[in-house]
Amino acid sequence: EKTIAVLTSGGDAPGMNAAIRAVVRAGIFKGFRVLGVRRGYNGLIKGDLVEMNLRSVSGIIHRGGTVLYTARSPEFNTEAGMQKAIQVCRAHNILGVVVIGGDGSFRGARDLSERGYNCVGIPGTIDNDIACSDYTIGFDTAMNTAMEAVDRLRDTSQSHDRCSVVEVMGRRAGWLALRCGIAVGATSILVPEAPFDLQKDVIDRMVENQRAGKQHFVVVVAEGVGNVSEIAKEIQTRTGIESRATVLGHIQRGGSPTVTDRVVASQMGYHAVELLSKGIGNRVVAMKADKVVDYNISEALQMKKPFDFNLYQIAHDISI
Ligand code: F6P
Repeated sequence: EKTIAVLTSGGDAPGMNAAIRAVVRAGIFKGFRVLGVRRGYNGLIKGDLVEMNLRSVSGIIHRGGTVLYTARSPEFNTEAGMQKAIQVCRAHNILGVVVIGGDGSFRGARDLSERGYNCVGIPGTIDNDIACSDYTIGFDTAMNTAMEAVDRLRDTSQSHDRCSVVEVMGRRAGWLALRCGIAVGATSILVPEAPFDLQKDVIDRMVENQRAGKQHFVVVVAEGVGNVSEIAKEIQTRTGIESRATVLGHIQRGGSPTVTDRVVASQMGYHAVELLSKGIGNRVVAMKADKVVDYNISEALQMKKPFDFNLYQIAHDISI
């Protein structure tokens, strides 16, 4: 029987379940047997597979996380690990795998495709840092979660005339910080993509704002930029404004996906199966100008996503 498999890999993201559901339903619709692989590539190595039917993905479209579990798998990056995974694919007649995850997961999908197993990647990460795609599943939900959390922080920092220094996720990417920062009216937004000077870009702006009558502040910092406790301490020392640091952390990865994440995940899942049903692999599904398209994985991995400096400038200009 023609069989395809689906797995989630790397950090989970809200909307991954909607993507799994779309893959399973579209796969069965197109006449495939669909296997779910548990815990990412580790499950492919161990043969931890479950047969999916139309009902195994009922009642999950609105749930965060991933029902297939996820993992980062160092073993899959070794030739021995890859060979074990290939054995499992062969034993179960798997001719293609849909991999929902980020860049690291796509490298595995490319390597497996090059060994004759068609893989299609679907961008699933709250970081929005997949170069070939305008959008990644989970980004919208994470932004809204972060925004709501900072709104709460603002209530208390406003009541105390304080500065709230908030770390949002993104070790290497400032997309979440930028959009969340604009949405909460942050005085300063610090991201790994844009070099900054704490004195000029944060302290001086706060002092200037204070002169104009502002008494409470929000500074949004992407995880990759540095330690928010130290930044808060520095701000307090140099401005005299009482400051508190908050790390939002994994709160941002959970929760029920937004409409955007559910719909994009459904579209991308469907598209991935269409590719596999045409015998096409080694592709990443992407969103470009509101259209679902796909790219060769190696080419996709080499692309660079230019940071939205225009939006960054707008944020800067209207936060004073
Ligand atoms: O890639 C998603 C992400 O949430 C990043 O924003 C963050 O830097 C990283 O994962 C955290 O990874 P972990 O869940 O392994 O701590």
